[in-house]
Amino acid sequence: MPITLGTPLSPSATKVMLLGSGELGKEVLIALQRLGVETIAVDRYDNAPGQQVAHHARTITMSDPQQLKALIEAERPHLVVPEIEAIATPMLEELEAAGTVRVIPTARAARLTMDREGIRRLAAETLGLPTSPYRFCDSAEELQAAIDGTDGQPAIGFPCVVKPVMSSSGKGQSKLDGPADVQKAWDYAMAGGRVSHGRVIVEGFIDFDYEITLLTVRALAADGSIQTHFCEPIGHKQVSGDYVESWQPQPMPSLALQRAQDIARAVTDDLGRGLDGQPSGQGLFGVELFVKGDEVWFSEVSPRPHDTGLVTLATQHQSEFELHARAILGLPVDTRLRNPGASAVIYGGMDAQGIAFDGVDEALRVPDTDLRLFGKPESFTKRRMGVAVARADDVDTARANAKLAAGKVKPRAA
Ligand SMILES: Nc1ncnc2c1ncn2[C@@H]1O[C@H](COP(=O)(O)OP(=O)(O)O)[C@@H](O)[C@H]1O
Ligand SMILES: [Mg+2]
Repeated sequence: MPITLGTPLSPSATKVMLLGSGELGKEVLIALQRLGVETIAVDRYDNAPGQQVAHHARTITMSDPQQLKALIEAERPHLVVPEIEAIATPMLEELEAAGTVRVIPTARAARLTMDREGIRRLAAETLGLPTSPYRFCDSAEELQAAIDGTDGQPAIGFPCVVKPVMSSSGKGQSKLDGPADVQKAWDYAMAGGRVSHGRVIVEGFIDFDYEITLLTVRALAADGSIQTHFCEPIGHKQVSGDYVESWQPQPMPSLALQRAQDIARAVTDDLGRGLDGQPSGQGLFGVELFVKGDEVWFSEVSPRPHDTGLVTLATQHQSEFELHARAILGLPVDTRLRNPGASAVIYGGMDAQGIAFDGVDEALRVPDTDLRLFGKPESFTKRRMGVAVARADDVDTARANAKLAAGKVKPRAA
């Protein structure tokens, strides 16, 4: 059943709490606001992007189970929507099991995707999906043994990729080309992980032709069943494990697209299973896949909007944020592409508080473009502070225009 929508700030209000209120959460919050949902934006620091557009802003340590429980019990939202991975997900599972709250898509999905191990083992070992060869290691010695195959299992070999099990946006991630890189990669992973967690995944390097994000939506149909909808594939470019550019649609041979959709369906069907094993788990997922010819590998999945999906602000009838908002409320979705388009990231380029942006007028003079400036209180050199999106009749024009517009925005100290 869809959730009945009420009036915000009144006893009939439909309340949704975002756990994490960055640029992706901000857009989800705006979509919810437009439907008259009362919103609570939670983050670990004050004035996070989403907090600036929500009815209520709360600042807590979301990885602390007691703080998380106290906040959810005090606010009593109808839905809790995780926007980041670093959350005390076992507590969400407890609260969901007790019937205190519904977690999007499910608390189990939030737990399984909070680190690389849960989701990789589910995809490769339980669901039998194709992935890169991989091993989890707790020391530089174990890492060496996994690469060499002296741990009794097939050698991962070179080149390979090492990542902390808890990290995102390429933090602590490196590519290893030979034996000299092993210790360096281990040290870098230890310095770059989100929490002091002495564990890494080492993956065989996949020499893909291109990589995609397949946005996959589980939404209620008129008869109350869950239906899976796919957006057109999004192509993207990553630099040091961080997204810098994306475009939609990414052309694909039909067999590869079919395989990508099959993989995405298998993963999201599983992550969408509720506590009782019944299908529930509404919402949008970003399924990351590597493609070479007709071959497709599963890489990872976000049970929420994906950064590369910012392009959908310019390309789809309903952006990935609107799709997520509708799906979680039990409303119908439309995943059709409207026109080709692209996105290009605007980095802070400096470490400073309260920066200003020059060149916004020139950026917006580039034809068929738009900008999002996220309003992050603090800039870092490599922090994503905004994005340019462009629409066009073809992806190449859109990519050129998105990059041109992004390049015209010049962050500076205020
Ligand atoms: N096994 C691999 N083979 C080739 N490229 C990889 C591999 N793993 C990661 N990458 C590259 O690094 C990027 C980031 O890795 P990913 O696992 O998605 O980490 P994050 O969680 O930080 O996004 C990928 O989008 C891809 O470009
Ligand atoms: Mg990724």
